[in-house]
Amino acid sequence: MPSTIVDLRSDTITQPTPAMREAMARAEVGDDVFGEDPTVNALQRRAAELFGKEAALFVPTGTMANLTALLAQTRPGDAIILSDDAHPYNFESANIAMVGGLLTKLVRAEYGVMTCEDVAAKIVQTNDHHFAPTTLVTIENTSNRGGGAIYPIESIAAIGALARERELRFHIDGARIFNAVVETGVAPKTYASHADTLSFCLSKGLGCPAGSLLVGDAKTIDRAHRFRKMLGGGMRQAGILAAAGLYALDHNIERLRDDHARAKHFRDGIERIPSLELALPSPTNMVYIRVQKAHAFAQRLAEQGVHVLPTAPDRLRAVFHLDVTDEGVEHAVKAFERALE
Ligand SMILES: Cc1ncc(COP(=O)(O)O)c(C=O)c1O
Repeated sequence: MPSTIVDLRSDTITQPTPAMREAMARAEVGDDVFGEDPTVNALQRRAAELFGKEAALFVPTGTMANLTALLAQTRPGDAIILSDDAHPYNFESANIAMVGGLLTKLVRAEYGVMTCEDVAAKIVQTNDHHFAPTTLVTIENTSNRGGGAIYPIESIAAIGALARERELRFHIDGARIFNAVVETGVAPKTYASHADTLSFCLSKGLGCPAGSLLVGDAKTIDRAHRFRKMLGGGMRQAGILAAAGLYALDHNIERLRDDHARAKHFRDGIERIPSLELALPSPTNMVYIRVQKAHAFAQRLAEQGVHVLPTAPDRLRAVFHLDVTDEGVEHAVKAFERALE
């Protein structure tokens, strides 16, 4: 067994800190299906206020946040526009098709970041019944498969304006929105102001064991609440999880800068190794590295205690999070060097 273990597979693997566990242990709870969990209610109010929306809904996962958002704002047989890198299209087990009955109109966009023109070109609104009516657009900020790429706020504003003009709903999958917030200085409210709904995850960079929130207008969140129930996402004394969320919003947003600094340090180290190459620009906490035979390469790294995720035959992903230290970064860069030998 290697003495140092650095797990860079995902920012979801973090362990709740003792202080977060303490907050969870102290949480006041009730039955949230009756709307009686004070800590869940406090978290929902806090999320709505943070993003400047009327209401918020606590759900177990980012997948359910996206799905309830789509179900609440479309009807089966509608078409939705999203990037071909988008999480719901790639990694949510076809729920948009199977559960939502939705047609996906895919945009091939650099780093998963669509322009307003890309979106406009995909809209179909006609009385010709050959076509599914386009009723929603969704973007992912930051973009996971895009290397943690950030949507420029101007593009979000333009897509938002287009959506309003064409009467489309606009959902932002902000699983990692706070990575964008700390990197750009754009406020959560500003991001959300251009969209009808926005979801964010507590269980990624914010370091919680589980949970996501969906924010939006009261009517849409009420519909999403019904779909949460339908999907089996009504939890009972969920305040134990919500307490972790409140703790994370107080303590773990600003520290995302440390993850970005470590990701940059790692990128610089990889760039100094002549036969390695970065696959994407990676401005936040996710770094994609181009290597030959990615699975075998990942295995050689694992033997040195460094765990990364092969995402393609020639691509590895390394994600920086709460449980990665400066020494871990140094160790990881050295492991990459040795894995080439
Ligand atoms: C951009 C994005 N959206 C949604 C999700 C889904 O979150 P969960 O794993 O909590 O269902 C993820 C998970 O990695 C993600 O990266």
